Amino acid sequence: MNRAAPFLAKLTLPLLFVGAIALAHWVKATPMSAAVPAPSTAASDVPFYATRFEHQPDPKTLTALGRVLFSDRTLSASGEMACASCHDPAHAYGPANHLAVQLGGPHGTLPGLRAVPSLKYHQAVPPFAERFFDNDGDDSRDQGPTGGLDWDGRAGSAHEQAAGPLLSPFEMANASKEAVLAQLRASPNAAAMRDAFGAHLFDDPKRAWNALLLALEVFQQSPRDFYPYDSKYDAYLRGQLQLSAAEARGLAVFNDPEKGNCASCHISTVKRGAFPDFTDFGQIAIGVPRNRAIPANADPAFRDLGVCGPLRTDLQGRDEYCGLFRTPSLRNVALRGAFFHNGVYTRLDEAVRFYALRDTAPQKVYGSGRTHRFDDLPEKYQDNLNKEGPFGAQPGGKPTLTEAEIADVVTFLKTLTDGYVAPQVDKVAAAKKTR
Ligand code: HEC
Ligand code: HEC
Repeated sequence: MNRAAPFLAKLTLPLLFVGAIALAHWVKATPMSAAVPAPSTAASDVPFYATRFEHQPDPKTLTALGRVLFSDRTLSASGEMACASCHDPAHAYGPANHLAVQLGGPHGTLPGLRAVPSLKYHQAVPPFAERFFDNDGDDSRDQGPTGGLDWDGRAGSAHEQAAGPLLSPFEMANASKEAVLAQLRASPNAAAMRDAFGAHLFDDPKRAWNALLLALEVFQQSPRDFYPYDSKYDAYLRGQLQLSAAEARGLAVFNDPEKGNCASCHISTVKRGAFPDFTDFGQIAIGVPRNRAIPANADPAFRDLGVCGPLRTDLQGRDEYCGLFRTPSLRNVALRGAFFHNGVYTRLDEAVRFYALRDTAPQKVYGSGRTHRFDDLPEKYQDNLNKEGPFGAQPGGKPTLTEAEIADVVTFLKTLTDGYVAPQVDKVAAAKKTR
């Protein structure tokens, strides 16, 4: 696959904006625009934050406000659900439980359709593009559909995305923007909103809506919260420590094109000074098994086909996009309780084993039955499946990863959890050595 990470100014990223308008343009303003053609619909030419506020809050104020709003339950129809209910800060802004899909809706009883992704390390996700030319190496190679927020890349920005959960009937389930604003206006956070944006904020619904989404969006770009690069692996990349023997073996398997070949999609090395996000943002079909624990899947006619729909609607009928989902970052993956877009696995070793067995022992992945292989992707779309390493062997062939190697990869993936603190005992040992 050999996609390289796009060139990104991620480490020096935003919050350098002059006024709120520049924020809407941060994606276009970074050198990424050289690699990613922005979709040229008329609507996207009008900057979302073109609205002028009475006050132009500074990034610090916006971040603090966004943090509060992120946990504000009054923003939901039930009054019981906040962004943080599904995107728990203590779980890398992913779910706190092992459920494949979370419950939402007006009474907190409606199951969703997809696993809740972590919101960390999204600062560099490029806008969705059908063709992606990477300016790292051979920039004439079209690497196919890439980027966009949500598993299928349908949301163009964090503010466009945030409108989704606020109004989705399965999530925060508000009837309208006006309903959200009425609740916000009557909530304890209204005063902070007025302090930040101006006393008359709520008199203009468009302005108030933009203010809400702006605060949420800026909060989600806070480096300390969302992309701290402070895992054990980051300390290793900085030369501050050695990995354990098992972690180092796992990393080698992860990178080895003949074994895991994981790094061909989940980038693991520093590129142009930017630390790796463990994704190239590619939209790829890998054919994970159908998850019968998702209630919607009780209906055999329901299929989540990713980029070609049905949740995403602009590329319906484009058969070549069926089964594609955005490659997620593997940072903090050990904190997750459900893996892949449909949360079909609840253990990390199962998720890794899927790669070893998909082609060599499909009966172990999809069950043995008539034609159970790729049971969530109709046959006519199966040409879309990725067949490069670690995939591609024949049934009965030798898996590219042994059980011991799977265990090592899992051990390595645990080094990608943020907030690493070197164990005290290491310091003592190190101090003894230097004496
Ligand atoms: C009921 C659970 C739930 C709530 C509440 C919720 N989300 Fe989500 N969020 C999801 C799910 C599920 C997805 C994936 C949707 C998809 O791919 O179709 C998602 C995706 C996202 C994404 C895109 C992540 C990615 O990997 O591309 C962002 C950003 C996001 N949510 C922010 C928010 C914000 C901000 C709020 C509050 C306004 C919020 N979410 C509330 C469940 C939730
Ligand atoms: C061809 C690109 C590609 C390769 C190679 C690849 N992955 Fe993935 N990975 C993906 C995509 C795409 C998804 C999401 C698929 C989905 O949800 O349907 C994913 C999802 C995952 C997840 C689930 C993460 C989450 O948040 O749910 C894990 C774990 C994972 N990959 C680990 C690995 C490991 C370990 C390897 C090597 C053995 C590997 N991947 C190789 C593209 C790839």
